[in-house]
Amino acid sequence: MGVGIIGVGHYAPDNIVTNTDLEKIVDTTDEWIRTRTGIEERRIAKDDEDSSDMAFIAAERALKSAGKTADEIDLILVATVTPDTPFPSVACMIQDRLGATNAAAMDLGAACAGFMYGVITGQQFIEAGAYKNVLVVGVDKLSKITDWTDRNTCVLLGDGAGAAVLSNVSEGNGILSFELGANGKGGPHLLQKDDGFLYMNGREVFKFAVRQMPESCINVVEKAGLKKEDVDYLVPHQANIRIMEAARQRIGIDEDKMATTIKYYGNNSSASIPIALSQSIEDGKIKDGDVIVLVGFGGGLTWGAVALRWGK
Ligand code: ACO
Repeated sequence: MGVGIIGVGHYAPDNIVTNTDLEKIVDTTDEWIRTRTGIEERRIAKDDEDSSDMAFIAAERALKSAGKTADEIDLILVATVTPDTPFPSVACMIQDRLGATNAAAMDLGAACAGFMYGVITGQQFIEAGAYKNVLVVGVDKLSKITDWTDRNTCVLLGDGAGAAVLSNVSEGNGILSFELGANGKGGPHLLQKDDGFLYMNGREVFKFAVRQMPESCINVVEKAGLKKEDVDYLVPHQANIRIMEAARQRIGIDEDKMATTIKYYGNNSSASIPIALSQSIEDGKIKDGDVIVLVGFGGGLTWGAVALRWGK
């Protein structure tokens, strides 16, 4: 048997902040943001809506789509760099709210690649026979660590959550290969500063990402014993449309075969890949038997990719 994703769900706050809204608070233009990043608007959570609130809703939706009850979940992994508090973890908070009384729970952090790390960690527990069902959530409320006077970062980011339930699936379906990686030397390019705000050296992160994302895509395709022509759909981390395009062109698939939620959500950090995946399922873009590549990169620096065949 394989290990695959049997259900997904996502949540984004109602509050929409457009590029034009941002023109009023920093020296930027709608035109600059759209052409350099592909972002038109993003969702920003209210003060009283924290990461655990968003994670809870996405998790409930993923359970429903998987046809599982909370008490069937053995492990909850929450990828986040913006937990409500360092402890208790967001995973423990949603374990309680979901009523997942049989689940172990912990957070893990790999920034925007966190969901990929979560999926592969969950897969290992199932493959080892230790657990049957693992809930993986990616959530971030980056707005609470965003410097709203820094045009280099504030125009890029948004809040949200996405979730997936992992379980055994039929032979041939599910995760076919993966790659996880890290380069701590690049840590200073993307970090939370002592003042609590996110700092990014955009040019350095761009250079790293535009090389790493396409390379990781090819690596997982080859590890799965496939050719790039076999890939039906690509779900990249939604950081910048130009970086996403580099990955798409390397795989060589059509524009409509790449999940593109960046226009409406911006960069949701750990939540970006599961939101894009869940939205693609909702839009009917992925069907059983399709080969999908999920790929992300983030602060750390970290990266991760998975090739999987969709279907139970
Ligand atoms: N509006 C107008 N001008 C701006 C803005 C803005 N919002 N932000 C920066 N600029 C200016 C810069 O100051 C610079 O001006 P200068 O030449 O006078 O110094 C100019 O625009 C061009 O800067 P570049 O860095 O060359 O612009 P680039 O085309 O590379 O785009 C961007 C910048 C969008 C940040 C890009 O580098 C990028 O996407 N980097 C990667 C970001 C990323 O992927 N982050 C992921 C992680 S985020 C996370 O993990 C939470």
